[in-house]
Parts: sequence; C-alpha cells; structure tokens
Amino acid sequence: MIAELLRNSNYTVVFTGAGMSTESGLPDFRSKNTGLWENVDPTLIASVDSMNRDVERFFQFYRERVLGVKDCLPHKGHELLVEWEKAGLVDSIITQNVDGFHYRAGSKNVMELHGTLQTVHCQQCGLEFSSEKYETNHFYCTCGGKLRPSVVLFGEGLPEEPFMKAIEESEKADLFIVLGSSLTVTPANQFPLLAKDHGAKLVIVNLEPTEFDSYADLVINDRKIGDLLIEINEKLM
Ligand code: APR
Repeated sequence: MIAELLRNSNYTVVFTGAGMSTESGLPDFRSKNTGLWENVDPTLIASVDSMNRDVERFFQFYRERVLGVKDCLPHKGHELLVEWEKAGLVDSIITQNVDGFHYRAGSKNVMELHGTLQTVHCQQCGLEFSSEKYETNHFYCTCGGKLRPSVVLFGEGLPEEPFMKAIEESEKADLFIVLGSSLTVTPANQFPLLAKDHGAKLVIVNLEPTEFDSYADLVINDRKIGDLLIEINEKLM
C-alpha cells in the first residue's frame, strides 16, 4: 500500500519523531517503560530554567545525550529514506529529532524543527562550537556564558528557518508520512494536519496510537519502522 502511494505521489514529505531512532539504540521520550520522560518531568530538565537553576544536572543530562548519539548510528530505515530521496520518491524530511541521523545517513532536504545535538552554542554571546566540547566537560564559553546544546528547550520557540520551510513543505505534500512520533508536542504535531488540510494523503506509522490517527488515511502500528521500510523497499524494486 505505502509503496503504491510513494510511486503515485508527486510530492512526498516524511515527518519523523524519536521512534525513527529507537532501532539505532536511542531511547524515545514517551514509550512505556523506556521513554526518557518516563521518570522525569521534561520541563524540569530540558528547559532554560533548569539550565540556570540546576546547572550540574542539566549539563550531565545533555552530556549523556551527546555521547549517546555519538555511540549510535543511523539504521537501515534512515538509509532507505536517503535512497528514496535520490530516487525522487521522498522530497523532504521534517524531523523533531536532534540526533542528526538523517544528515549523517546522507539525506539532503531535512528540516530539524527542534535543533541538533551536533552543536552547542553560548547562551550569552551566541558563539557556536561542536558538541565535542561536552565530551571534555567544557560547559562554559570563553566569555563566561553557558555552552548549551543547540536544541529547542521547553519554553523556547522553534528556529524560524526550518519551521517556515516545514509549513511550505506540508502545504506542498500530496503524501505525508509520519514515522515514529506520538504527535503530542506542538507546534510540530500540527504539520500532519496542515498537510491533510491541503489535500495530502496522511500515513501514520507508530507502535502506539496517536490522537491524530482518526485523520489518517492509513495507520500502521503493528510493525517497527525499520522492518516496514525494508518491506516497502522490496515492493519498490
Ligand atoms: N517503530 C515505530 N514506532 C516506534 C518505534 C519503532 N521502532 N519506536 C518507538 N516508536 C513510537 C513510540 O510508540 C512512540 O509513540 O515512536 C513514538 C515516539 O514518541 P515520543 O517518544 O513522544 O517522541 P516524539 O514524538 O518525537 O517527541 C516529540 O517531544 O520531548 C520532546 O523535543 C522532544 O522532539 C521531541 C518531542
């Protein structure tokens, strides 16, 4: 079914969440028992307030995430999205993920709505550095400001460029495929609806139900993303 949709689509946008990277070994946020936010209130750790109030905990949390991403690799599913982009079957990827795996796998047209763990920048002067600083516990800029990860923290706005482009892409799509997102975080979760409202077919691939399933033309929650993309690829051959 999805292979057919991909073949017949003129403009396909893929929208990914943390479920896209669990098969690379990175935990997602809200899966039962394994999600990062299972035992911690994200606003108490992934926010500017916690960076200022709970410095040690904030930096250790993000140091672990930076090192975790470094230890993991994009999986076959990321690679197939690259192949499909090259074959003209996928036109762009809107991602909530900050692991950089779509770029690392080779995808070109990617919008990182929530920023990236690949760089850190000074909260004071804005100077940008590689996140390798975190490997050596370098959490402060030469200006004395804090070197925070270049991800969107709770309570912050999204970076304008990827956000505006994601609006354009969602409105252009005639096929919009969600891969591995609970669709619980706004405004990112509005893009599937925007695409649908502009006439796109909406496909949601997620191991758990989402509150947007009723809008979807197709919902698949009985297969992991990696296995499903491999299956689809075999049908596209
Ligand atoms: N295949 C299919 N679905 C999967 C897989 C998999 N291999 N692994 C996990 N999932 C599903 C889970 O069932 C879950 O519903 O992926 C979904 C991931 O949802 P979340 O953990 O909520 O992640 P996401 O939707 O990306 O979170 C959005 O929340 O904390 C913020 O900024 C953070 O970008 C993140 C945002």
